[in-house]
Amino acid sequence: MADIGQDLGRAKDILERGGLVAIPTETVYGLAANGLNSEAVAKIFEAKQRPSFDPLILHTSSLDRVNNIVDNIPDKANDLASAFWPGPLTMVMNKQENVPDLVTSGLASVAVRVPNHDFTKALLESIDFPLAAPSANPFGYISPVTAEHVNQQLGGRIDYILDGGPCTVGLESTIVSFVNDPTVLRLGGLSLERIKNVIPSIKVNTHSSSKPTAPGMLESHYAPKKTIELKDQFDSNSIVDFFQIGALVFQHYLEDIPHENQYLLSVNGDLNEAAQRLFTGLRTLDANPNIETIITELVPEEGLGRAINDRIKRATA
Ligand code: TXA
Ligand code: MG
Repeated sequence: MADIGQDLGRAKDILERGGLVAIPTETVYGLAANGLNSEAVAKIFEAKQRPSFDPLILHTSSLDRVNNIVDNIPDKANDLASAFWPGPLTMVMNKQENVPDLVTSGLASVAVRVPNHDFTKALLESIDFPLAAPSANPFGYISPVTAEHVNQQLGGRIDYILDGGPCTVGLESTIVSFVNDPTVLRLGGLSLERIKNVIPSIKVNTHSSSKPTAPGMLESHYAPKKTIELKDQFDSNSIVDFFQIGALVFQHYLEDIPHENQYLLSVNGDLNEAAQRLFTGLRTLDANPNIETIITELVPEEGLGRAINDRIKRATA
């Protein structure tokens, strides 16, 4: 297991020596390394068992520093940055030559984000390189929203976990590409409505293709280890014992299933709260030894509900 703490100096030290540190952000915990050092970045892929075709996000402390890694910042990207950075928004732009191919999987573009978390902002300001950081989970599994989640799965493979408390947004960042017309590649912690306030004409393309540009776009992703199905598609005859069913539900308990096997996302029907609790709910049910099958339901398709539904559909795919 890794050491967990709040020692920024230690985190800086490890990163400067090319090591791995899990860092808190407002979205999910990231597994960070020096993003301009290929050897350090390779350790991320190794620890996560991540396929090398899946490019990483570079994190910096300011828009100003983004100029060191991207070619030029399109006007509309500037507008989004002024509106939402630091925050749960990642932008894909043409990269500069100093960004290693390993970070971008050989693409000519790079994904960048200025995260909004006090520890990580201070850490990023204290170093002179950007941090490459995917979500700190084994590839394909649920993203971590606490230091403990990181430790449970990757603790043996990283040097230090910087504990910044539970993530306040709870969903990965929204990704917007500026390689062609502005396009949302991944729904996430910044709602489509808020982005459309700044770029009304923005396109959305979050569907997987044979060569996805974002594996968060893969049909099956963010999945727990247990079987998980949408409640409408669930065949109750296939299970004899309702005590073995767990449920991840929005606002109300489902009938027939013991309440202790159910996880409510938001009693008040608040989609921001539901987003924040989603991954902890999935993990809690996945870890409950009394549960064999998880059933779930979609939430209203608005605000962060779009991103929640996206994750639920991929988890149940
Ligand atoms: O909230 C987040 O974005 C978190 C925190 C740690 O910042 N990070 C995160 O990283 O979710 P990751 O690696 O799990 O997801 C990043 C996604 C990947 O699906 C990747 O394919 C996409 O970003 N991506 C990275 N570079 C890209 C590029 N040049 N073009 C298109 N997609 C890219
Ligand atoms: Mg991820």
